[in-house]
Amino acid sequence: MTTHAEDTAKNHAPHIIVIGGTSGIGLALALRHLQLGWQVSVVGSSEEKIAHIKQQHPSVVTYACDLTDNMQIQNLLDTLSDTHFQRLVYSAGSYTNERVYHLNQADSDKMLMINLQAFEQVFRWGSHQLKRQSQSLDVIQSSGVIKQDRPSLICIASIAGTLDYPYASLYAKSKRAMIATAGAYRAALIPYNIQVNCIASGYIDTQALRDLNNGDASHKPFIISTPSAVKHIMQAIHDDVELAVFPSSMRYITNILNHLPQPILSWILRSRLDKKH
Ligand SMILES: NC(=O)c1ccc[n+]([C@@H]2O[C@H](COP(=O)([O-])OP(=O)(O)OC[C@H]3O[C@@H](n4cnc5c(N)ncnc54)[C@H](OP(=O)(O)O)[C@@H]3O)[C@@H](O)[C@H]2O)c1
Repeated sequence: MTTHAEDTAKNHAPHIIVIGGTSGIGLALALRHLQLGWQVSVVGSSEEKIAHIKQQHPSVVTYACDLTDNMQIQNLLDTLSDTHFQRLVYSAGSYTNERVYHLNQADSDKMLMINLQAFEQVFRWGSHQLKRQSQSLDVIQSSGVIKQDRPSLICIASIAGTLDYPYASLYAKSKRAMIATAGAYRAALIPYNIQVNCIASGYIDTQALRDLNNGDASHKPFIISTPSAVKHIMQAIHDDVELAVFPSSMRYITNILNHLPQPILSWILRSRLDKKH
């Protein structure tokens, strides 16, 4: 006789849940996993995007949840609590072209909630779930019944969060906090053999970025395509990179900037970021 955990593990392909998986990088990552034979669940707030995914990719399971609403987040996590998964990706994000002092109260609340507070809630839940699962899997694996991918938590931060300077925007500061949080989870989950990877990419040519730039983001420095970003992210997960910073051109620049004295870095970024385009 098999246990419920054995049945679940044996009968199902590996499962990835992508929070913020209804468009852009999250959706592209989700579809890459689908191609690789994974079970895929995606979460987002747009009914329109969800309807489109249901139509185009009927095997993808979709969940509607507005991450600015605590009740909805709790309902989502309760709904998913019996779901066995190997990877949880947090790709939800809110960004604008505006500098910190231009944000109104509503934009500021939304950005903080989606980029930081909901992320923390989801990672806390995800780590708890993966720990529980790893305990039941330990029993199964030690009996030689099954060997699965190493469970992992992945978050999509931004290269903006890798620079340390006081004049940073709310977006950059919340992504910086995300990078630090992921690092703490990575250290905490080592004893459980759970992997944590944080992705800090430069510009990626997604529809959301194009929409913010009148339909064309090609002027953004070192911008890369979405398929190229997916390749980098899959490699970073495979190689278990703690903080994956790409493309390399942007990584070199941020490394240099981070070695400058703070006042000079602040002056450079301030004059660059305040430039009127
Ligand atoms: N594109 C870039 O250049 C770039 C560079 C570095 C990092 N990033 C990061 O990459 C991530 C994805 O960006 P993207 O360019 O792919 O943008 P995107 O297409 O807008 O993806 C954002 C995802 O977050 C979800 N989301 C936003 N608000 C939500 C809410 N209130 N409730 C639930 N889900 C919500 C969106 O779903 P719904 O619309 O369905 O709500 C969507 O699935 C973000 O975290 C961003 O900061 C992007």
